Amino acid sequence: MYTPFKNGIDATGAKAVYWELLEDDGYRFDEEKLKKLVTKKTRLIGVCNPHNPTGRVMTKQELKAIADIAVDKKINIVSDELWEDIVFDDHKHISIASLGPEVSDLTLTSWGFSKTFGVAGL
Ligand SMILES: Cc1ncc(COP(=O)(O)O)c(C=O)c1O
Repeated sequence: MYTPFKNGIDATGAKAVYWELLEDDGYRFDEEKLKKLVTKKTRLIGVCNPHNPTGRVMTKQELKAIADIAVDKKINIVSDELWEDIVFDDHKHISIASLGPEVSDLTLTSWGFSKTFGVAGL
């Protein structure tokens, strides 16, 4: 997640658990790795897609894996999709909330004008 999201988590006294970004692995998403990070205490899954700084764009299958875990365990999702319009031609941005009403009900999607319209800091 973009760093200020972490500040928000810290401000509530909650504990952020991290997904380690491994370049050698192509920043691959791994459903089993996510399942290991999710515990009974998990209240929120943060998604940054397209991802800054790696530029990785998640596939529908990967997003569905996150959505299935969230729906199954009733965990909210914050999905930062600020970069949705800045993807290479062979990639397609998919919003996790678009995968169905159950995941949509659990998701807060974050977006803004700064990247799409080149007005950072406005
Ligand atoms: C992934 C991501 N989310 C959020 C932001 C915040 O963007 P802004 O404050 O320009 O809306 C940035 C800025 O670089 C970003 O990369």
